[in-house]
Amino acid sequence: MKRGLFLTFEGIEGCGKTTQLNRAADWLKARGRAVVATREPGGTALGLRLREALLDAHENVEAGAELLLMVADRRQHLIEMIEPALAAGTAVLCDRYTDSSRAYQGAGRGLGEAVVDELHRRFCPRVPDRTYLFDCPVEVALARVAQRGGAGIDRFEREELAFHRRVRAAYRRRARSKPKTFRMLDAAEPPDSVFARLEKDLEALFG
Ligand code: TYD
Repeated sequence: MKRGLFLTFEGIEGCGKTTQLNRAADWLKARGRAVVATREPGGTALGLRLREALLDAHENVEAGAELLLMVADRRQHLIEMIEPALAAGTAVLCDRYTDSSRAYQGAGRGLGEAVVDELHRRFCPRVPDRTYLFDCPVEVALARVAQRGGAGIDRFEREELAFHRRVRAAYRRRARSKPKTFRMLDAAEPPDSVFARLEKDLEALFG
């Protein structure tokens, strides 16, 4: 059986990637494709417990510990869910993956990308077939987060502007360095325009 395609969705908070992921999943299902839509952190039972601690605004998480917990979540997710789905020929759409740790822990927290890459080589070697980067100015994205309100502001959302700027810059550098797998989409545009571009790429990938 042919392995399923692995698509990841990346960007800073409030970039709209989750909305676009859901639309992409619906688009594929409507064409009769088997799809799994999942996320990190929190794609497994263990991951949900890790997610709770990682996002809790009252939790004190040291930067290195944060990276290791993100990678622990990812390893469990990869082995328990992503690899079996891909092997069964299912397309896997994942909200955040290795590039989130490169951008947030590597650049945002300043741990450097080398240590992040090393952990991924050892524990999460699966590389996405396609990564969509939903890119927009930090101010635009954070205004959306503030407007969303809801369950409150999590541990990452409350970070200072400079943190989010480092994350965005790292994502953009990464996308430029991997033009074959990355597609950078202007996430400041209205959701329908963003999806129209995404859809073109899905057509190319899934024919
Ligand atoms: P989530 O509520 O899923 O945010 P979003 O809707 O923006 O994706 O929270 C995930 C948070 O965890 C997000 O702020 C980014 C952070 N994160 C990392 O710092 N490193 C990682 O490797 C991953 C997967 C997420």
